[in-house]
Amino acid sequence: YEYGELADEPRMFTEILEQPSSVERALRGRLDERFGTAHLGGLNLDPRELRAIRRVKILGCGSAYYVGQMGAGLIEELARIPADAEAASEFRYRNPIIEPDTLYVAVSQSGETIDTLLAVQEIRRKGGRVLGVVNVVGSAIARAVDGGIYLHAGPEIAVASTKALTNMYVAFSLLALQLGRVRDLSIADGKRLISGLQALPTQIEEILKSESHLEEVAARLAEAESMFFVGRVRGYPVAREGAQKLKEISYRHAEAYQTSELKHGPLALISESVPTVAIVPQDELTDRNVAALHEISARRGPLVVVTHPEVDLGELDALRVDVPKNEVELDPILLTIPLQLIAFHAAKALGHDVDKPRNLAKSVTVE
Ligand code: G6P
Repeated sequence: YEYGELADEPRMFTEILEQPSSVERALRGRLDERFGTAHLGGLNLDPRELRAIRRVKILGCGSAYYVGQMGAGLIEELARIPADAEAASEFRYRNPIIEPDTLYVAVSQSGETIDTLLAVQEIRRKGGRVLGVVNVVGSAIARAVDGGIYLHAGPEIAVASTKALTNMYVAFSLLALQLGRVRDLSIADGKRLISGLQALPTQIEEILKSESHLEEVAARLAEAESMFFVGRVRGYPVAREGAQKLKEISYRHAEAYQTSELKHGPLALISESVPTVAIVPQDELTDRNVAALHEISARRGPLVVVTHPEVDLGELDALRVDVPKNEVELDPILLTIPLQLIAFHAAKALGHDVDKPRNLAKSVTVE
């Protein structure tokens, strides 16, 4: 796209296209190649304090919560610290136990989401330590936390978040790397992940080039009233975010499910009018994922498979979307990018105002 050509395009679209450069901004000055680690100056935690963390709890709302779930997976994998994510809107109401050796992380694009802010205040009231993963500098959450990581995504205007979510994942990767390297993550693994992070902008660029194919895929999905998004382990939060984005702007019903749980219920709903978007990375679960796709196909369920070029789908009747392979821990973010464009084009095909979805606000500042 040439300068000026995008002036009339929805903001969501221009924000999607900005991701190669916004990811670069999130990485800038934060990688230490010599020691295979990250430097996050704003954490306000020295290596001894980082080592003393026994658990990580991530809190956010909506899409930020789903990326938080991806981040928790990364932290467990790289740092081997038990980590999970929870909807901030629920957390505060169940009288949570706040532990001194738990690191709490509030994740929010706007830094103004009231449920997330109130969760931060509840934790701090009980003496817990909270980090922010926030885009808007000086926002309420940024001011309320003990330290944090700014996303540097630049202003995000479209209600449906894209570039801020991608940078959240990058921020969690950096945090996981830094936590891992004060523990048992080897320098070789640290360097491997740094190369992976550095490859992201070019790989995102590549995915964006497949836009016309994604537009066709979106047009097919937009015909369906209801669909599933499925994935497992690293792929499950990707499926949740993909379903959320599609629902938000196309108003089609999309339900995310763990691929492994399909047979315990939703398989009953699969038919030729209920498509499934399956996240099938090249990883230790590929064969099991492909086997589940055969179950869907046998029930005539149309399939869109978001996968890696290395994955052999055999005879399966499916629309295939390939994304470039990165390090296995960093794959989730690249798998999310085509789902943004699918949601965008589905909404556009249905004639909706992509930037102003009905009933939704960019940030929810009242309870
Ligand atoms: C609203 C928006 C969502 C967003 C969520 C969290 O519900 O519609 O797109 O993910 O708030 O926003 P935050 O600014 O805290 O990331």
